Amino acid sequence: MNPYKLSVAAGRPLASGFKMPVLGLGVYLVPPGAPTRDAVSAALQSGYRLIDTAKGYQNEADVGQAIRDSGIPRDDLFITTKLPNQDHGSERALRSLESSRNALGVSFVDLYLIHWPVPGVRRATWKALERMNRDGSCRAIGVSNYTVRHLEELISNADIVPAVNQVELHPFLAQPELRDFCRKHRIQVEAYSPLIRGDRWNHPTIRDIAVSHGRTPAQVLLRWGMQHDVVEIPKSVHPERIAENAAVFDFSLSSDEMARLDSLDARYHTCWDPTDEP
Ligand SMILES: NC(=O)c1ccc[n+]([C@@H]2O[C@H](COP(=O)([O-])OP(=O)(O)OC[C@H]3O[C@@H](n4cnc5c(N)ncnc54)[C@H](OP(=O)(O)O)[C@@H]3O)[C@@H](O)[C@H]2O)c1
Repeated sequence: MNPYKLSVAAGRPLASGFKMPVLGLGVYLVPPGAPTRDAVSAALQSGYRLIDTAKGYQNEADVGQAIRDSGIPRDDLFITTKLPNQDHGSERALRSLESSRNALGVSFVDLYLIHWPVPGVRRATWKALERMNRDGSCRAIGVSNYTVRHLEELISNADIVPAVNQVELHPFLAQPELRDFCRKHRIQVEAYSPLIRGDRWNHPTIRDIAVSHGRTPAQVLLRWGMQHDVVEIPKSVHPERIAENAAVFDFSLSSDEMARLDSLDARYHTCWDPTDEP
């Protein structure tokens, strides 16, 4: 593992002017309380600096506690949280970020995401996020679960293009068109469920490549995303797995191995699929 590679300084430049670490810890389904504090502490000790939470995960306060306990300077951290569906709309969104900042105990979040492209209200909500970005309560604003169609709609009406689109992404859901679109518009793609939630790890292509490098399937999956310029946020509550998932900077996949993994794309969602969201 190379802790420097996990840092903000070595991160990907966002259109907002700030940098985002290339790999972080996701805390979806990590129970609030000690489990979240322990997972975040283990990640920070392993060198992680990006933590991905959401109001809906109900563990923002424990993420905040763990980052305070770490003593790591605020500017060395990159904290993402997300606006839940029920808090869309101009005034509600402003209040929702305020309550997330209070729970986290921070004066600003590094990245604030619309969690889902809720029909009917997302344009007004984006205007509210633009205001929050201008007033400094979030350093970058972005979206999650947006397809190309949702992004086109947003951009046609936006003063600020989203800095990030966080979507499910792994070899079985490679999203090449979305990645192309985002590259053209300087939107950083961030992969959630990059480990396919442990599903399909026995696929022979993944197994063969892992064995030939003396690596684990998790490391091969994360390396694949990294070589596609995607930011990744694997989730684990086990310190040894958290460390393992960050040990992906000292090997690389050949173009042939990348092509073999790319060929697995089957538009396979382990989570929700926003394709048909109006
Ligand atoms: N924006 C959205 O709508 C959205 C949706 C889903 C997820 N996310 C974000 O993305 C993050 C990651 O996605 P995810 O949690 O769905 O799935 P994931 O990271 O693909 O997989 C997590 C699963 O893999 C296991 N795991 C992790 N590292 C492992 C390793 N080295 N060896 C064996 N098993 C390992 C974990 O178990 P243990 O914990 O027991 O180790 C957990 O069951 C979330 O935590 C969340 O922050 C966002």
